[in-house]
Amino acid sequence: MPDLVRITDVSPRDGLQNEPGVIATSDKVRLIELLCAANVDEIEVTSFVSPKWVPQLGDAPDVIAGAAAFKPASSRAGTSAIAFSALVPNEKGMDGVTLANSGRHPRVIDKVSVFTAASETFARRNTNASIAESIERFAPVIRRSHEQGLRVRGYVSTIIACPFEGPIAPDAVLNVVDRLLDAGVDEIDLGDTIGAATPETIGVLLRRTIAAGRVSLSPEAFTLHLHDTRGLAGACAAEALRLGVRSFDSAIAGLGGCPYASTPTSRAPGNIDTSLLISVIERAGLRTRVNAEALRDAAAFATRVVGEARASATPRNHA
Ligand code: HMG
Ligand code: MG
Repeated sequence: MPDLVRITDVSPRDGLQNEPGVIATSDKVRLIELLCAANVDEIEVTSFVSPKWVPQLGDAPDVIAGAAAFKPASSRAGTSAIAFSALVPNEKGMDGVTLANSGRHPRVIDKVSVFTAASETFARRNTNASIAESIERFAPVIRRSHEQGLRVRGYVSTIIACPFEGPIAPDAVLNVVDRLLDAGVDEIDLGDTIGAATPETIGVLLRRTIAAGRVSLSPEAFTLHLHDTRGLAGACAAEALRLGVRSFDSAIAGLGGCPYASTPTSRAPGNIDTSLLISVIERAGLRTRVNAEALRDAAAFATRVVGEARASATPRNHA
């Protein structure tokens, strides 16, 4: 079992998508630059989704143009460079990625992340499609990504519970994993969208996933995406590490949350904080490539920028 754990910082995407205040494109670009300095393995830089659904990320092409200026192009010693990924729900999003990469050598976006859910209600609320319809939309996205030499991640949301349907059975999750792999994704990412997991429930799901044998837990094939609603994400990460997971998503300063996982009374919870995740990994006797001091600089910057945007934002109803 490798002792190096892969970290994808999703703060420029999941971290910001639910923020009500306007965050300047230049601040998003600076955040990505600081995350590069912190040497995370991958950065989820933005989403090519409908700006009507997620207005905060409507500047995706400009973020990519800004990030192109400093994206680390060369290999790190013995490893590949920091990967940039972006969320894509459909062909129109794939058009955006294609355009953003065109004429840029090296390309800026290395990986496309398609996303669906284990809950029909959540899939519908998040993408205006059933689970089956969302996966149908991925077919041309996956084909075009592979033609362009891009990897494809397949997210499954609501792996433990759905804000609308309640608890989700592991079988429902594994069924969607199978369908995404059949559709041709290169890797699976399981998302505890509302931070409902406990070490017990995440353990049950991971053991079922391992037993099903369809996906390996190698860092190239499998990632866990935890949100930290009840302060249990660290314990869930520790259990996942114990069971062999070696790739996690996280967000600096614990930013984040899906707007379509919010209910009228509660805002969707943030991702597991990258620095908390790293301390859990180190306590388990494992390591990451992340530079802790540079990560602190990135977190301080994100906290300031988001704090200022929140202070000047109009309060909003989460319905
Ligand atoms: P729809 O309204 O059914 O789409 O939305 P449509 O095809 O009918 O198009 C409606 C309008 O959107 C049209 O514009 C399209 O051109 C435009 P109009 O003619 O009205 O001016 N449009 C687009 N524009 C830009 N980029 C696109 C795009 N597609 C259509 N790609 C759609 C369907 C999927 C587009 C919409 O539901 C959507 O954008 N949803 C995204 C929601 C989202 O981003 N949620 C958060 C990310 S998921 C998450 O956070 C969970 C995760 O973190 C894991 C976890 O925690 O579990 C990943
Ligand atoms: Mg998320």
